[in-house]
Amino acid sequence: MMQASYERRINNLQETFLEKYGVQPKVIVRAPGRVNLIGEHTDYNEGFVFPAAIDREMIIAAAPSDDEIVSAYSLDYHEDVSFSTDEIPNNDDKHHWSAYLRGVVDVVTKNGGNIGGLNLVTSGNVPQGAGLSSSASFEVGLVTVLDALFSLNLSKKELALLAQKAENEFVGVQCGIMDQFVSALGEEDSAIQIDCRSLEYRAVPLNLEKNGYSIVITHSGVHRGLVDSEYNARRNECLEGVRLLSQLRGAHLSSLRDVSLVDLSQHKESLPERIYRRCLHVVSENQRVLDAVAALENGDIQRFGYLMNESHESMKTNYEISTPEIDVLVKLTQALPATSGSRLTGAGFGGCTVSIIRSSEVDNYKNIVIPRYEKETGNQTSVYVCSAKKGASFVTP
Ligand code: GLA
Repeated sequence: MMQASYERRINNLQETFLEKYGVQPKVIVRAPGRVNLIGEHTDYNEGFVFPAAIDREMIIAAAPSDDEIVSAYSLDYHEDVSFSTDEIPNNDDKHHWSAYLRGVVDVVTKNGGNIGGLNLVTSGNVPQGAGLSSSASFEVGLVTVLDALFSLNLSKKELALLAQKAENEFVGVQCGIMDQFVSALGEEDSAIQIDCRSLEYRAVPLNLEKNGYSIVITHSGVHRGLVDSEYNARRNECLEGVRLLSQLRGAHLSSLRDVSLVDLSQHKESLPERIYRRCLHVVSENQRVLDAVAALENGDIQRFGYLMNESHESMKTNYEISTPEIDVLVKLTQALPATSGSRLTGAGFGGCTVSIIRSSEVDNYKNIVIPRYEKETGNQTSVYVCSAKKGASFVTP
């Protein structure tokens, strides 16, 4: 996949800004996408996740304007949008991408941010609909811009929460906090373990390259379908699990975070089979995150990979968010002796896998596994070796 260099993209952004608005941008912000190494569908169950911010990002140039108008130009879509901060349109069928901008301005305003007009130019290279959080990178980038231009003094956590709110309340996707959190608070060469109940987190150095391993992201060529409806269905099934387990235990549980594997197995026969499997995925995945982080800290990359494989199996069998093609890709990847682990990453129903592969064997992966997968499924993939980057920041032009 050929990518324009980061510097070229920044120059282009600046030149376009000057051309369109006749002044230099006041700030340029970058906000990364993310890859989740382990801990899937646990964030909205107040559980643990372990994502890393990646070297694909949204970049935004911005400056305040003299009026109350928000004007934006998207270099990706070659489209302009504008609206007044006094009357933010709920819909704009012609410019779907602007929902994130309208949503962020709306939510920040409703939460007390005193926002005036502004001009923006945006450009992103996080693949869309791939499970790498292109929308979260846009939202976090936009909140960072508003924070800087209008002196909102938001902490990074507040910033992530507002970005999530825009997605939940305006865009209408009931996502958890993981994507926005890591896009705002990710750290260079580390993944971050987030406790999605307390929002405490810590950066854990990946040290993969040092040990001869790479993080390889592969777009399966399966475009995500059904993700919104199925995502919400999983959320509801988890809530149903919490309700039933509270009844069975005769005590109020606030989320699946309050449930242990032992608790769950005691009530297996009393729960509807599907609800039991959904709960089993979440409860076991929380434990896998803790075990995987411990393995990484012990330098045990084989165990880390084994837990990634187990995570995939659980997503496939218990949570049912994989697809037959992605299962083929994961199986072929896991069979490569140089692979430590491989799994579907993100919400599921299509998109990307994440694999930890010996760096010296990544070419073999591309030359052997990928053609086999493409032949077997007829899908076109794209593969990229990613590195972990820090969360949203300002670019000094
Ligand atoms: C999407 C959501 C996240 C998280 C993942 C699944 O990326 O935005 O909040 O729930 O799916 O782990």
